[in-house]
Amino acid sequence: MANANNRLYVGDNLEVMRRSLDQGTVALAYVDPPFGTAASFLTESERDTDAYVEFLRPRLIEIRRTLNQSGSIFVHSRPEGAHHVRRLLDEIFGESAFCNEIVWAYARSTTSQGRMLPSQHELIYWYARTPGLQKFNLDRLLAVLENQQRRSAVGDVWTISAKEFTSDRYLPSQKPLELLERIIVLATDAGDLVLDPFLGSGGSAAVAQRLERRWVGIELEQQVVEIARRRLIDELGPDVAHTYRVVGIPQTEGDVRELAANDPLEFERWAVGLLGARPRGFTQADRGADAVITIGNPSASGRMRRLVIEVKARAFRSSDLDQLKKVASWEDADAAVLIVVDVPDPRVNREAIDRGGFISSTSGAPIPRFQVFGAVDLVRGARPQMPDEPNPGILDA
Ligand SMILES: C[S@@+](CC[C@H](N)C(=O)[O-])C[C@H]1O[C@@H](n2cnc3c(N)ncnc32)[C@H](O)[C@@H]1O
Repeated sequence: MANANNRLYVGDNLEVMRRSLDQGTVALAYVDPPFGTAASFLTESERDTDAYVEFLRPRLIEIRRTLNQSGSIFVHSRPEGAHHVRRLLDEIFGESAFCNEIVWAYARSTTSQGRMLPSQHELIYWYARTPGLQKFNLDRLLAVLENQQRRSAVGDVWTISAKEFTSDRYLPSQKPLELLERIIVLATDAGDLVLDPFLGSGGSAAVAQRLERRWVGIELEQQVVEIARRRLIDELGPDVAHTYRVVGIPQTEGDVRELAANDPLEFERWAVGLLGARPRGFTQADRGADAVITIGNPSASGRMRRLVIEVKARAFRSSDLDQLKKVASWEDADAAVLIVVDVPDPRVNREAIDRGGFISSTSGAPIPRFQVFGAVDLVRGARPQMPDEPNPGILDA
C-alpha cells in the first residue's frame, strides 16, 4: 500500500517530534540511538554517559507522547550501556511497562580485545505505552520465523546474522532487515504508523512499507538521508520515491515557498515551532488558533497572558486581520501573530499595532496586539515581537 503520507524528516528528532508528530498517533517507535553501536556518530559530549542520558531522556519523553494506547517502543543498546537505557525507560514508561529484554545474538566471529570476552550480542528493550495493552501478534511472528527458517521456539533470544554489518552495507550501524521484520510484525498491524527517530540507512522504513505499515523516519545527517533514499529504492524499486515526502528545514526563501505550496500542514508546524510554540493537533485547530503560548506566573500576577499564533500557507489577504481578531477573541488572547508566506504591505502592521497590546513584564518591550509576519523573513532570521519571559507555557491541544 503506497502512502504519500509517509515522511522522511531531515533534522534533530527532538525538534521534529515536538513540531510534527501528534500525540497518540504512533503504534511502534523503533529506536536505535547512536550509543555504542557506532561510536563515530557520537559527539564528544555524547560519549560522556551523563550527557548521553540527558540527550536521550527528552527524546524518550517525546516518543512516549506520540505513542497510542496500544503502542510499543523498542530501544537498542549495547551491553555496556544497557543499564542506563533500562533505568531511563523505567523512569519514563514505568517498570510495569517493561515487556522484554530481547537479546539479539549476531553470532559474528570476533577476537577478544584486552582481558575480556568479545561481545556477540546487543540488547533491545521493549516497553509498552500502557502496561498490558501492547499489541502482541505472536502467530504472525511465528509465521515470520518459519519464513526466516528459524524453527526454534520463539523466545527473547533472537539469533540473526550480522552479515549486513560486514558486506553490502549502507551504514556501519545498520540493522538486519530480518530483525526489523520481527519487531514490526510483532507490535503492529497493517496500516499502523511506525516511527524511527534515528532512521540511519532506512531499513525500518523499507520493511514497514513492504509490510503495508505507514512510517515516519527522522535523520539528522543529510548524507545519511541520501543513503536511506537510495536504500528505499534498492529494497522497493524506483516508484517508492513517489510514496513518501522528504521534509527538510527550510533554509531559503525558495524552500519556504515550496514547503507552503506542497505541504501546508508542515509549513504551519515549521513556522509555529520557530516561534517557540507547539502546534495543536487537528481537532481544535479549525476554530481556534494554530498554537497558543501562555506567559507569566499565575501565582504572581493572578492571570496568565495568552498569545495565539495563526499560520496561513499563502500570501496575506485583507480579510485575514478580521479573522485574526475573531480567533484572538475566541481564545481570549492578549496578543495574536499571523504568519503568512509573503511579507505583507507594512501598512497592514501599522494598522494592526494601532489596536493595542501589552508590555512584556521582563523586557519591557511592547507586544502589539496583532502582528502580521512574512515567513520569508523568518528564514532570514527576523522574528515577530514576542515576550521573552523565561519558560513560557506552551499549551498542547
Ligand atoms: C545507530 S544509527 C541508526 C542505524 C539504523 N537503525 C540503520 O539500520 O541504519 C543512529 C542514526 O541516528 C542519527 N542521529 C543521531 N542523532 C540524531 C538526532 N538528534 N536526530 C535524528 N537523527 C539522529 C545518526 O546520524 C545515525 O544515522
